[in-house]
Amino acid sequence: MPKIGNIQLPDFPLLLAPMEDVSDPPFRALCKEQGADVVFTEFISSEGLIRDAAKSVMKLDIYEKERPVGIQIFGAVLESMLRSVEIVEASGPDIIDINFGCPVKKVVSKGAGAGILNDIDLMVSLTEAMVKHTKLPVTVKTRLGWDHDSIKIMEVAERLQDVGCQAISIHGRTRAQMYKGNADWKPIAEVKNNPRMHIPVFGNGDVDTPEKAMEMRDKYGLDGAMIGRASIGYPWFFKEVKHYFKTGKHLPPPSMLERVDAAKRHLQMAIDWKGEKLGVFETRRHYTNYFKGIPNFKEYRMKMVTSDDSASVFEAFDEVLEGFGDYEFV
Ligand SMILES: Cc1cc2nc3c(=O)[nH]c(=O)nc-3n(C[C@H](O)[C@H](O)[C@H](O)COP(=O)(O)O)c2cc1C
Repeated sequence: MPKIGNIQLPDFPLLLAPMEDVSDPPFRALCKEQGADVVFTEFISSEGLIRDAAKSVMKLDIYEKERPVGIQIFGAVLESMLRSVEIVEASGPDIIDINFGCPVKKVVSKGAGAGILNDIDLMVSLTEAMVKHTKLPVTVKTRLGWDHDSIKIMEVAERLQDVGCQAISIHGRTRAQMYKGNADWKPIAEVKNNPRMHIPVFGNGDVDTPEKAMEMRDKYGLDGAMIGRASIGYPWFFKEVKHYFKTGKHLPPPSMLERVDAAKRHLQMAIDWKGEKLGVFETRRHYTNYFKGIPNFKEYRMKMVTSDDSASVFEAFDEVLEGFGDYEFV
């Protein structure tokens, strides 16, 4: 069974992927309740952290109940990354994760995120320095390479392991692909099957059914699956995968009551954490998925996503239960 540093994980753990504007404490708590074995924060800018930028600092918040939790940081400047390690360590996570995979221009143009895939020596030296600077396990999340012609994930994985990285999560796309096409898990399996590799190798990209998670485990032999988009507004995905592994059968989808309950708790946790205004605003993006596919639902959805006060949103949830309480999801 895989371990990250001293953290013992179950067989084929399911990891909640770091997702900006999604993987905040309330959402992570819901995913944890539904079976996520490790959760990661949204990525946090090392430059923001060292400037004490409020948005970056707030992302350091973690709940006890979500452990083990990894805080993810990105950057490309050694001094900023080392100072960030100290700041992150002080907020008490179980893992420090480095983002070497973010494809967006504003990150890549500064040589951070996936930008560093063009400078593997820097990637390795930054990781080594960070590993030496903390007692916490340091992990890396990255992509296959910069583009199709420069896939060097085997070299990257070996070298990161050699400098003390404790686990690697690999998204089966290149930076050039962004989110297009299908994730390719074959190169990830090659890394896992390299006899030199002994740290856990987690697969990421397109795991959106229990069958795909099983394929990642049984056909590709990876150590665990990191799950992103399939969990957005659907934290039950973790439970569904685990149930399928155990029984070979699909769980019925969550009932309306379970969905309304999760949406209410999500909103309440968000308000408790960041206040009424931001809590109401930032939870909106999850409702579409919580209540996906219900006919004649527009009026209710509009109320949820346009109301500025939580009382109206809670009222909309109750109206949904009254109007659609026995709706059967398929
Ligand atoms: C809304 C959104 C935000 C993301 N933010 C991050 C991030 O902060 N850090 C990171 O490493 N990856 C981030 N990603 C990438 C995911 O962690 C993951 O690698 C990608 O979505 C592929 O996995 P999936 O197919 O299971 O979604 C983000 C993805 C999405 C959809």
